[in-house]
Amino acid sequence: MTLLGHRLRAPIVITGMTGGFPDAAKINENLARAAAEVGVAMGVGSERAAVLKGQYPESYACVARFPVPLKFANIGAPQLVPQHPGEPVVGPAEARAAMELIGADALAVHLNFLQEMVQPEGDRRAKGCLEKIAELARVVPVLAKETGAGISRPVAEALRDRGVKAFDVSGTGGTSFAAVEHYRAAEHGAEREARVGKTFWDWGIPSPVSVLEIAPLGLPVVASGGVRSGLDVARALALGATAAGTAGGVLRAASTGFEETKRELETLVHELRVAMFLTGSRTVEELRSAPYVITGETRPWLRR
Ligand SMILES: Cc1cc2nc3c(=O)[nH]c(=O)nc-3n(C[C@H](O)[C@H](O)[C@H](O)COP(=O)(O)O)c2cc1C
Repeated sequence: MTLLGHRLRAPIVITGMTGGFPDAAKINENLARAAAEVGVAMGVGSERAAVLKGQYPESYACVARFPVPLKFANIGAPQLVPQHPGEPVVGPAEARAAMELIGADALAVHLNFLQEMVQPEGDRRAKGCLEKIAELARVVPVLAKETGAGISRPVAEALRDRGVKAFDVSGTGGTSFAAVEHYRAAEHGAEREARVGKTFWDWGIPSPVSVLEIAPLGLPVVASGGVRSGLDVARALALGATAAGTAGGVLRAASTGFEETKRELETLVHELRVAMFLTGSRTVEELRSAPYVITGETRPWLRR
């Protein structure tokens, strides 16, 4: 199958996680080597540290050494607008630099405003982000991704109208940054932010709902947020996603070693094959038209 014109051996993306500190190099290297061998796509974590502060570029650049079939550079939407007067921002030149650092094929721009609201020192200015994304989308292929709260149809339409080429939904059901930041805020004695983290712990759109909302737009959609097995990958494809993405599902393996990371990815692929066999789907395309039933908490969302 292909994603953004790049041929993958399996419809799987390791979504952006890390970079910007010394130990991240080993994790990114394990991920890149395994992604190259298994033939899946990968992204790195926010490259803000490298492109705006010159910090630890090697923790990202190690990815460039591996023939990963599709690589995503990564920048946060809050870094596109000045958060404080005179602060440097990511524009087309910095976006290109982020891509060149890892040999990326596309730029993932992440939307993480929920996380920023729970961080005591969070970047909370969003005004102007949409037009800055449009500016980047004119010069490089942009994938817009969430970080755990999902993307709604109106937001996806607004991004599509500004030239975004693909989406990574990252809905609720997986890693919750409100939860992660709740604990960090509590540790730092930031009581108000800790409360906000608790209140908005599971804020957002469930991953399957986000896929169903935006797949009809016709742009490639990566389903992510809680993908932990090859059966989850199969479910995502049946709902209309182009590929499925996981971050939290491979983090432990990537922190352990290359063999563990490769085994985890191969297990996802194997389980996807099992689901295809059991549904009589000879190809990923056929799986996409397999009938499905929506149950549980997702169901009421679709009757809104
Ligand atoms: C440790 C960790 C760090 C992350 N850092 C980033 C990041 O820098 N940029 C980004 O776009 N997403 C980041 N994410 C979000 C993931 O790409 C993904 O959207 C989210 O975790 C949901 O997927 P999951 O449930 O499989 O973890 C991070 C996730 C994890 C677990």
